[in-house]
Amino acid sequence: MKGIILVGGRGTRLHPLTLSVNKHLLPVFNKPMVYYPLSILMLAGIREILIISTPQDLRLFRQLLGDGSHWGLKFCYMEQESPRGIAEALIIAQDFVEVDPVCLVLGDNIFFGTTLPARLRKAAKLQTGAIIFGYQVQDPERYAVVTFESTVENSARAITLEEKPQNPKSKYAVPGLYFYDNNSIKMAKELQPSARGELEITDLNKRYLDQGLLQVEVLGRGIAWLDAGTHESLLQAAHFIQTVEDRQGMMISCPEEIAYRMGYITRSQMSHLAEQMADNAYAAYLRSLD
Ligand code: G1P
Repeated sequence: MKGIILVGGRGTRLHPLTLSVNKHLLPVFNKPMVYYPLSILMLAGIREILIISTPQDLRLFRQLLGDGSHWGLKFCYMEQESPRGIAEALIIAQDFVEVDPVCLVLGDNIFFGTTLPARLRKAAKLQTGAIIFGYQVQDPERYAVVTFESTVENSARAITLEEKPQNPKSKYAVPGLYFYDNNSIKMAKELQPSARGELEITDLNKRYLDQGLLQVEVLGRGIAWLDAGTHESLLQAAHFIQTVEDRQGMMISCPEEIAYRMGYITRSQMSHLAEQMADNAYAAYLRSLD
């Protein structure tokens, strides 16, 4: 399976923070925001990753992430010329994805939870259909909303999907993490722009739902899903990461550590990465890992 991280958009909800800086480069405590979704792909075992951003910002992501080889990964970069919707990422990615299934993650989505890695690895085995997730939130109207036939922990049968409904029919939001078979590219090409002129990822998911090929997994208690797309949620995410990291002395979504623990790089390669950094807490953490 290949991975796509979408780090485009105008970030208007975060103005003036994002007037001159791409949202996904903003700090979430001690790391750039994009490290968090990247870590999700890494934990799913995905090593070939396409980063899609705006023509003006792409070079900043290249500067930050390089070709990925230092983390045992392979990064490619492609442009989304204007914000024409999340589903367009699949069309842009066609030559990168080739014949493989694909996982798309939005650059401002942060996940944390001990059961996640196993569930991600399982989802990454998908060959047919699509897997998306449902997560209970207090403000579902800000997201795509899914309703279920009956809701049980881990898995349930989805009935409806709506993008940012005014009157949500459930409290289950759909996070920006989607696993698709290779058919998704063809299906994305068949989508029509919505009223706001975008190719909606929810319209693609609805097509899978209509065909009986959509699996919606509930992420329940014990898993945190945060989005960092508003001033409040950005600060909350930073506090959350800082609180848990400080308490346990373990980092959340540290790509160097994940690369090491997944066996993509050796300990000495990780030490070398630490040496290249200034003598700060992040480097000290990498040096402390056994
Ligand atoms: C996007 C999607 C929405 C999804 C959300 C998750 O919304 O359109 O379906 O629930 O991401 O973060 P956006 O945050 O781009 O408005």
